Amino acid sequence: MKIVVTKNYDEMSLFSAKQIMEVIKDKPDASLGLATGGTPIGMYQQLIHLHENGLDFSKVKTFNLDEYVGISQQHPESYHKFMYDQLFNHINISPDNVHIPRGDCSDMHEQCELYEKEIQLAGGIDIQVLGIGSNGHIGFNEPGSNPEERTRVVQLAESTIKANARFFGSEELVPRLAISMGIQTILKQCKKIILLASGEEKADAVRAMIEGEVTPELPASFLKLHPDVTIVVDQQAAKKLIVSQAS
Ligand code: PGA
Repeated sequence: MKIVVTKNYDEMSLFSAKQIMEVIKDKPDASLGLATGGTPIGMYQQLIHLHENGLDFSKVKTFNLDEYVGISQQHPESYHKFMYDQLFNHINISPDNVHIPRGDCSDMHEQCELYEKEIQLAGGIDIQVLGIGSNGHIGFNEPGSNPEERTRVVQLAESTIKANARFFGSEELVPRLAISMGIQTILKQCKKIILLASGEEKADAVRAMIEGEVTPELPASFLKLHPDVTIVVDQQAAKKLIVSQAS
């Protein structure tokens, strides 16, 4: 694991956008694995800025990590809407190249299988962006997740429901189920991974991921088993790392 500590959120966002830019420059039809949540919004703004300055997304493919189950793509809090609002409406990506798992299908099992196939057909994901929950989740792979699982329907942890209530207005309105790439999908299909974390509320999870043991209780710790992971954290999220205290 490579660890990059940035001064603040803006520097974290710029650093990670540049990592994505490098991948696209190297491979114009790269597959990007994308994440939602508050953390990557600044990175998406930087990517839009890079696009305005010539970065071409016309051949780029994208695969999102997850989506809520039981809400439509048009729901104000769907990850589908989030991605179009935050990024896709502002760059020259073809909607045919955008993949976001659907949480509104009658046959969710079939949807999970299809999503895995689409990732395989694309030849895997060249760079995957991840956030981390304060409970250590990646995607919606909550504590206790089996690392052998691929894309599937999962139950949200109470802590995730509480954390995401800010988007829905109340805990009751947060969907209880989601479709999420599995830990195996992330470890096996993604060639390069960057995990972003910002703010003090992520400091315990970041420390446990980097300094603790590999355990299903902290799904992000499985990233230690991947050969090309860069953790990009701002100083607040890095403040409990022993290595940061020593420097
Ligand atoms: P956040 O979520 O970016 O909104 O903090 C990250 C996550 O839960 O993975």
